[in-house]
Amino acid sequence: MTASFDEAGMSSCNKPPSPTEPVGMWLIGARGGVAACSIFGMLLLRRNAVPPTGLVTALPEFQKAGLIPLDRVFVGGHEIRAASLTDEIRAFHRTNRVFSSDWIDLLESEMIECDQRIRWGTVSGASPAITELASADVPRDSSPWEAVQRLRADIAAFRQEHGLRHVVVMNVASTEPPVDPARYPSCWGEMEKALAGGDLSPPPSTLYAVAALSEGCSYVNFTPSLGASLSALTELAEIHHARHMGCDGKTGETLMKSVLAPMYRARNLEVLSWVGHNIFGNLDGRVLDDPQHKATKVRSKDHLVGDILGYSPKTVVSIEYVKDMGDWKTAWDHIHFSGFLGTPMVLQFIWQGCDSLLAAPLVLDLFRLTERADRAGIRGTMPFLAPFFKSPYGVADNDFFSQHRALLDWVASLSPSDG
Ligand SMILES: NC(=O)c1ccc[n+]([C@@H]2O[C@H](COP(=O)([O-])OP(=O)(O)OC[C@H]3O[C@@H](n4cnc5c(N)ncnc54)[C@H](O)[C@@H]3O)[C@@H](O)[C@H]2O)c1
Repeated sequence: MTASFDEAGMSSCNKPPSPTEPVGMWLIGARGGVAACSIFGMLLLRRNAVPPTGLVTALPEFQKAGLIPLDRVFVGGHEIRAASLTDEIRAFHRTNRVFSSDWIDLLESEMIECDQRIRWGTVSGASPAITELASADVPRDSSPWEAVQRLRADIAAFRQEHGLRHVVVMNVASTEPPVDPARYPSCWGEMEKALAGGDLSPPPSTLYAVAALSEGCSYVNFTPSLGASLSALTELAEIHHARHMGCDGKTGETLMKSVLAPMYRARNLEVLSWVGHNIFGNLDGRVLDDPQHKATKVRSKDHLVGDILGYSPKTVVSIEYVKDMGDWKTAWDHIHFSGFLGTPMVLQFIWQGCDSLLAAPLVLDLFRLTERADRAGIRGTMPFLAPFFKSPYGVADNDFFSQHRALLDWVASLSPSDG
């Protein structure tokens, strides 16, 4: 018999939820670089074939937190490109010269199984740069509301088919152009009416969030896309007692900003300018080459330094698509600062990271922590997840170390009896 769950997440027989029950990780953009590397990495970790390097939740401080073991996780998702996970991982291995091809052979049948749980996503309200990625087989939904119903049905079927206690929906799809919140009703009732009446055409990220939250799923936005940040969706999350958090994973150059800027502040050194140039050549970079899409990412990367310092030095963030770099992102940052007696000094750093392999462990961490938050009865935004994001919802403090401390405090506060 499949257990049924009430809105507080308790099974009908009133047993507290347990980390031994299967749960679902539903990825939007399920065959992209971050998603494919997250799935591939998770399958390797399950076999103990690799050490958990890069996973925050593998640190000793997290071992008594009652986090879900990765072998209890079913993966599914939405995608718009016709590809296969195995082909994506093979191409990733070839292009970026990372990990062993033996691992791909070892995991091929499990990757195929995951692939079979990936459903067509939606391009309703998508920009031309996204629409042109989409397979001709992606259903062209007749309205945004129809898209929401279809996406919801996919998630509900996934949950039912595998008897999942809970599903965490994670957006790792391509970055969308900016969203103007003023164009959307601020309360859910009006937004629902406008969506159902065909009066709005929001981007896909809004539709995915509406589908996920309406199904009572947790929703994590790893992208800078703003479609899930509308205030009507915050209300929708409240109505369904759901958790949500975002946005934009903090994996490389911006992570460095959130580590270094607090140092300048603590030593009372005045940052005069902070210039960061980023070059990379993966599909994310190709989409970000479109100026509208790039604007969303630049905004997400640019606010941190001023927020942390408390004043606004000159900042420059550039992102350039250089195809031959593949997933290897190089960021060169030049920080011009003033020391004692007005002496000008410079710090430069070069960060060279394989972007999706920086992101993948954090996706798994966010999944496990969000699932744990569900069992702990957390509702609404999850400020303790701030260290994972460039623009954390509801958190003004962008100092990485105080964010990390808040995460550790939350983990330490978890009691074994709450799941
Ligand atoms: N280090 C990192 O890689 C990093 C860090 C922070 C944020 N991000 C963000 O994570 C996201 C994913 O990055 P990536 O490198 O995997 O990009 P990617 O281009 O490799 O993958 C994105 C996937 O989303 C799919 N997609 C696009 N629109 C869709 C839609 N409407 N429905 C379903 N699928 C859709 C694309 O087909 C593609 O497979 C991007 O928004 C990126 O900015 C990545």
